Amino acid sequence: MGYKRGLRFGTLFTVVIVLAAIYYRNHENVLQKRLLTLLHGLEKLENKHVITRKPKVAIGYGVCTDVFIDARHLLKYSDEVGRPEHFDEINTELELLKSFAYYFRHGAAAERYMANRTLFDELVSKARSFSSSYSTIGGNAAVMAMRFAREGCDVTFAAKLTKSLHQMIPQVINVVGGEVKRDDIHLILEYKHGEVWGPYSSARANRYIIHNDMNNPLISSFNAFDKILRTYDPDLLVISGLQMMDNYPFQEGERKNLLLNVKKQMLERLSSTKIHFEMASFAEDKLLFELCDLVVPFADSLGMNEQEIANLYNTMYYGNISLVADSTPRVATVLDQMRTLFKLIRLRSKSITNARELTRIHVHTLAYQAIFTVKNSIWKNTMAAAAKASLTAHRHVCASSNVDVNKATLIMDDSFSTSIVDGTRISLNIDKPVSCWDEILKMEQEDIPIQVCVAPVLVCTEASQTAGGGDNISSAGLVLQI
Ligand SMILES: *[C@@H]1O[C@H](CO)[C@@H](O)[C@H](O)[C@H]1NC(C)=O
Ligand SMILES: *[C@@H]1O[C@H](CO)[C@@H](O)[C@H](O)[C@H]1NC(C)=O
Ligand SMILES: *[C@@H]1O[C@H](CO)[C@@H](O)[C@H](O)[C@H]1NC(C)=O
Repeated sequence: MGYKRGLRFGTLFTVVIVLAAIYYRNHENVLQKRLLTLLHGLEKLENKHVITRKPKVAIGYGVCTDVFIDARHLLKYSDEVGRPEHFDEINTELELLKSFAYYFRHGAAAERYMANRTLFDELVSKARSFSSSYSTIGGNAAVMAMRFAREGCDVTFAAKLTKSLHQMIPQVINVVGGEVKRDDIHLILEYKHGEVWGPYSSARANRYIIHNDMNNPLISSFNAFDKILRTYDPDLLVISGLQMMDNYPFQEGERKNLLLNVKKQMLERLSSTKIHFEMASFAEDKLLFELCDLVVPFADSLGMNEQEIANLYNTMYYGNISLVADSTPRVATVLDQMRTLFKLIRLRSKSITNARELTRIHVHTLAYQAIFTVKNSIWKNTMAAAAKASLTAHRHVCASSNVDVNKATLIMDDSFSTSIVDGTRISLNIDKPVSCWDEILKMEQEDIPIQVCVAPVLVCTEASQTAGGGDNISSAGLVLQI
């Protein structure tokens, strides 16, 4: 009797398990099918526009060697760390640990200058002693240059570097700037989503970067690049890498002079040259104010991530900066920031002599890509650009040129609102994954018609690199639009 009942229960139990397994397998299959449909939708858009001519792209400024290391290997948590804290520049190991904690707990990307070269060199050699550490060519301008070259553009890029680093750059790229004895090194401390460090856990995969640059903050390749630009009229000029000036110990007025030169370089371009400025992680408010006066008004296009838009928005709207922001903001929030930022920049530029009219903003986030372009402006194929940016985000983070849906997930919801106040709900259509619509941005004296495109990202679940992602993504978006 007891034996029989036991058997019956056992059978029932097995049946339940089998049914559950079938249910989950089906559920997974459904999910995978959805992701696959979405992937094909994005790829179709990406492939619709082949680049037939060879656009000329000039990219400033800088290069470095990126040394990657798992943050946990290099930084050990101890009670001594105490309260997380932000430092403008980092001098001691304790300051490094406190600063790391500050950004890590928010999963926010950060890039800091370390004035103490002894400590910096010690950290680099310690990082290199781990077999899991590896080095690549880094620096926004360099990564963008390589991406544009790979996409079939004719690329000139500004950097001063050693012979050995130069040899690692594809020969098709024209590097101008000259030679140095020691390359700038960026030490990139990476961490994964949900990683635990002391009492903190990370909200998303990201990285914390320290550097002790000698060339990049001074844009030492500037003059050589300027000379080339006198005869080489590019279709696109990209200004990037200026965050290396952040909290760098300049002499009085030195930085402002450098930025005035950048402004002049932008001003002197023909109107047929489109100008893109790639934002980055800035922590020094004075530098951001200078950029808002000397660089932003002279660009046609801006590229940035969710932290950087929050920072630029606060700088322009409130006059204060934000060091960390929500690392996974809602679409509505970002679109509202883009609208306000767009209007603010357009408004300010009216009173700036020779300012360009901003016609494009691209915001790349972990979960989606959002691009604004002014209708009938110099930018084309916005929908395809959003799709390509999205695919590049996955490919970059997973370090693979094929998107594998087994290593992908969607973070973006099934529908999103176009604005926090009075937004329209838009449902994600997996067959046509990029949502685009027209809007009118109302300014005091004019109405500006824009196209807005939002593309979901097939977020890579097995992150193997986060640094340089923004640069690849921004360039991938630009290449279809010029
Ligand atoms: C620089 O770092 C070294 C090595 O950690 C340390 O001994 C020294 O005190 C630091 N210097 C300053 C000025 O903090
Ligand atoms: C900037 O100022 C605004 C308005 O005063 C405030 O709401 C916001 O929290 C401030 N942001 C930061 C990062 O201090
Ligand atoms: C991003 O750019 C770098 C430099 O061009 C490259 O090494 C890396 O493979 C790129 N990532 C992808 C996914 O293309």
